[in-house]
Amino acid sequence: MTETTADHRDSYPPIAEFAAQANADATLYQRAATDRDAFWAEQAGRLHWHRPFDQVLDWTAAPVARWFVGGRLNVAYNCLDRHVLAGYGEQVAIHWEGEPGDSRTITYTELLAEVSRAANYFTRLGLTAGDRVAIYLPMIPEAIVAMLACARLGLTHSVVFAGFSPIALRQRVDDAQARLVITADGQWRRGKPAPLKTAVDEALSDGETTVEHVLVVQRTGIDAPMTAGRDLWWHETVANAAPEHEAQPFDAEHPLFILYTSGTTGKPKGILHTSGGYLTQTSYTHHYVFDHKPGQDVFWCTADIGWVTGHSYIVYGPLANRATQIVYEGTPNYPDEHRHFQIIEKYGVTIYYTAPTLIRTFMKWGSDIPAAHNLTSLRLLGSVGEPINPEAWRWYRQVIGANKTPIVDTWWQTETGAIMISPLPGVTAAKPGAAMTPLPGISAAVVDEEGKPVSLGETEANGYLVLDQPWPSMLRGIWGDMDRYRSTYWERYAAQGWYFAGDGAKLDKDGDLWVLGRVDDVMNVSGHRISTAEVESALVGHHYVAEAAVVGASDDTTGQGIVAFVILTAEAEDTGKDLIAELQSEVSREISPIAKPREIHIVPELPKTRSGKIMRRLLRDIAEGRELGDTSTLVDPGVFEAIRARKG
Ligand code: PRX
Repeated sequence: MTETTADHRDSYPPIAEFAAQANADATLYQRAATDRDAFWAEQAGRLHWHRPFDQVLDWTAAPVARWFVGGRLNVAYNCLDRHVLAGYGEQVAIHWEGEPGDSRTITYTELLAEVSRAANYFTRLGLTAGDRVAIYLPMIPEAIVAMLACARLGLTHSVVFAGFSPIALRQRVDDAQARLVITADGQWRRGKPAPLKTAVDEALSDGETTVEHVLVVQRTGIDAPMTAGRDLWWHETVANAAPEHEAQPFDAEHPLFILYTSGTTGKPKGILHTSGGYLTQTSYTHHYVFDHKPGQDVFWCTADIGWVTGHSYIVYGPLANRATQIVYEGTPNYPDEHRHFQIIEKYGVTIYYTAPTLIRTFMKWGSDIPAAHNLTSLRLLGSVGEPINPEAWRWYRQVIGANKTPIVDTWWQTETGAIMISPLPGVTAAKPGAAMTPLPGISAAVVDEEGKPVSLGETEANGYLVLDQPWPSMLRGIWGDMDRYRSTYWERYAAQGWYFAGDGAKLDKDGDLWVLGRVDDVMNVSGHRISTAEVESALVGHHYVAEAAVVGASDDTTGQGIVAFVILTAEAEDTGKDLIAELQSEVSREISPIAKPREIHIVPELPKTRSGKIMRRLLRDIAEGRELGDTSTLVDPGVFEAIRARKG
């Protein structure tokens, strides 16, 4: 990544004009600190409860929290019905832009009708509360409709990013034991339809599955063979169902969704989120961190609904807050690099939330592109997914934000469900590259191995980020594996009862927090979490690979790039094939193109400790072209010369 000096004195205080109209004010911190439970009860009051809760937090079964105990609500009712009942049915919920240039405008009344149809049809299929539904769809309105219809019925959805391979889909469908898969015939990819339904067929082709039906949205018109009795067209079923449906309330702790994310081992973890606490915190953060004003703002979160950012800041947070938002199907450079800026201009987007990797890509494309558009509607910018380098932060504010918009650098995770650490626009200062401070009601610390707080300003004394108090939208477990939940997040600081986030962090002299990136074997490529073990296992699955080690090396655009070192089997010699390309596509096939290694180096040996562990830290040094760190525990330091020689 391009290094620029990150100076804690480089601070952007709130602009008076923005502060004067901001949703947040400084008393929030104070009120939250004085009475945390009362503060969260007040935030839960943002929602409609069919039955009020009796208790804010029950932490007696830690680390499994129960928030808003005894409360009953319907998540979809909160996102739709109550806005329509309050007279806002004609407000636009979604301005949808299709990749080929088609578009749809969907009001709250229309979205409610579509969700009701889907809920009626899902009921007719025999699905009942607690059943799991896998959603494998591109960024089309039906994806949001499907999620909300599940929420309405108490079905637990598991959205699988449509870029994932059939193998990855099958793994997730099996783990969640989904009864229904919702997909599309195909998806638009740079002007061409790419098949999607056939990926589902491939995923379900081998052996017994729990899947009873595959519901298919017609999006591209590409050929999609249907299996009689199992497969159903959305337009022949859901579209004909009745548009009225009465929402029933569910317990605040009813499972809302499972979302799979990479951990340190090969098997993805099904992160479980529930209803009341999750919706409270996504609504709360969307309101204050984005300073969102319903009926006035046009909000655009550029994430895909396959990731948690899409769940929390396209679906649940914004719709609970009656937002008008943009949903865009395609990539930022189709048909050309102007696409995002055209959309901002066309709809008068006021709040834009994206990832550092895209900001760095915009920088590469050049300032002329955004300069060709009227972006004056923008009043707030957000960043998420990885640390933002100060240079990109300044460019973002200057070129996209005309030197006036606050930037919120928001730190959170699939596991946290909602934003945890971020500046509060109009209230706190922001520094390029720093996530700054935990939000009101959230508590975090930066500690050393023993759990002692690191000292302020000692740049050498980087520590680990921990969350030392439960929060409403925290994960409630790993689906089907509570032991893994405990060991992954709660074992490291078991004595203190803290959540270990897996990120390194530091505090500057002012006490502001800087997130430095993962400290485990998880890589962050363009804001996507990929585990080294996952990629290694895909590589070793190839019969020419005897052993593989994968590291994330810093990359100017994507934050990290995947670099693999492989030892080949004897049969691999003299195949005459382009082995590197073959191995790269093997990883794409097994996992997803997002996991494809940037570089693969064939090496004679891998550096290992005396106990046989691969020394990834040293491989990262090699991948990034650095002088080698401590090699004292290495079996044979000569290995490096050999690897270096091969890497060239
Ligand atoms: O390393 C942190 C990084 O992304 C990880 C979480 O990834 P995921 O669960 O996929 O969720 C991404 C979107 C919420 C974190 O452990 N990360 C996320 N946001 C930031 C960040 N690192 C630094 N600064 C951020 N703002």
